Amino acid sequence: MKTFKIFILGSIIAVLAVSFMVTCTDERSGEPVEVFIQKEWGQVDGKKVYLFTLKNEKGDEVKITNYGGIVTSWITADKSGKKSNVVIGYDSLSRYQEKNPYFGAIIGRYANRIGNATFKIDTATYHLAANDGKNSLHGGLKGFDKVVWDASWNDTTNALTLKYVSKDGEEGYPGNLTVTVAYKLTNDNELLIDYTAETDKPTVLNLTNHSYFNLTGDVNNTILDHTLQINADKYTPVDATLIPTGELKEVKGTPFDFLQPHKIGERINDVKGGYDHNFVLNRQGDKPELAATLADSVSGRVLEVYTSQPGMQFYTGNFLDGTNKLSDGKPINIHTALCLETQHFPDSPNKPAFPTTLLKPGEKFHSQTKYKISVK
Ligand code: BGC
Repeated sequence: MKTFKIFILGSIIAVLAVSFMVTCTDERSGEPVEVFIQKEWGQVDGKKVYLFTLKNEKGDEVKITNYGGIVTSWITADKSGKKSNVVIGYDSLSRYQEKNPYFGAIIGRYANRIGNATFKIDTATYHLAANDGKNSLHGGLKGFDKVVWDASWNDTTNALTLKYVSKDGEEGYPGNLTVTVAYKLTNDNELLIDYTAETDKPTVLNLTNHSYFNLTGDVNNTILDHTLQINADKYTPVDATLIPTGELKEVKGTPFDFLQPHKIGERINDVKGGYDHNFVLNRQGDKPELAATLADSVSGRVLEVYTSQPGMQFYTGNFLDGTNKLSDGKPINIHTALCLETQHFPDSPNKPAFPTTLLKPGEKFHSQTKYKISVK
């Protein structure tokens, strides 16, 4: 209860444009959690935008805004205790509105690509905006990354809960879809992301978080020296427009074999355009399992990704071209950050053999992803 009251109070104070911080205890786990609600961050579509800071006992700090559900920063220590930000983000709302290659955002209604920007459900054909050549990318012109989510503090789960109702026909998708995304930072430096969704008409759904990581904490360094291991025997090869061919191909003997750790730069030149591919995760059950381990030997930071999703898009920031700059003016150049986007396979609505992304009325979509940072 205490946290909730503090949250309400925080909202009121935030409206008065005053920042404050509180420390309270999660009654279930006993974990001390600090919640900081900054002054309002701005307004979009007539709705208030806030920046929330989640802090844990170890001093890790994750900032999240309800605009696009964006994770704007994750400050964490390296092996010598020096703290820096390991995700790419901006320090103002307007920067996100100007030009954002999905830094840190929640992506939907359909993350990744849908071929020819069309799909069918039964006999009905749905047309989406072709915003990536002839294909649809990341939910269309105004996807879930560009809308204001309703934010609340869940006192039971101790998580920041974001809710968005995507209207029937929005961006061409059928059905009123209610989505919630809960973010929780634990004392083990884990960012838990819990997604749920329900619809009132059959629709397609693919949700992810699009955080760009650089474990060195400095975009002057590329991610080419990071070491990556992916728990996937197969990946989905793509055509020239990055739409899967439909084949599930063995990674063995290809530059996509990350079953053992490899430096990302080791074979990236053997992959046309760089890595931007979905991996078919080896899974045993429905619960979150380890999908990938990313490590930077200089900082000692290790990122583990756990998910209940069937796939993960590994994207090496191939389209970053330096035109996006951090607030200190540093350009975000090609390969200075990478994404490990847990999700369903691209173009699943047009690939009947892929795990289904169809959501029907009466069903409840639920998936979980956990990003865990430690030091070695
Ligand atoms: C896609 C890339 C795309 C990027 C946009 C990734 O999820 O796989 O192809 O360019 O998002 O930032």
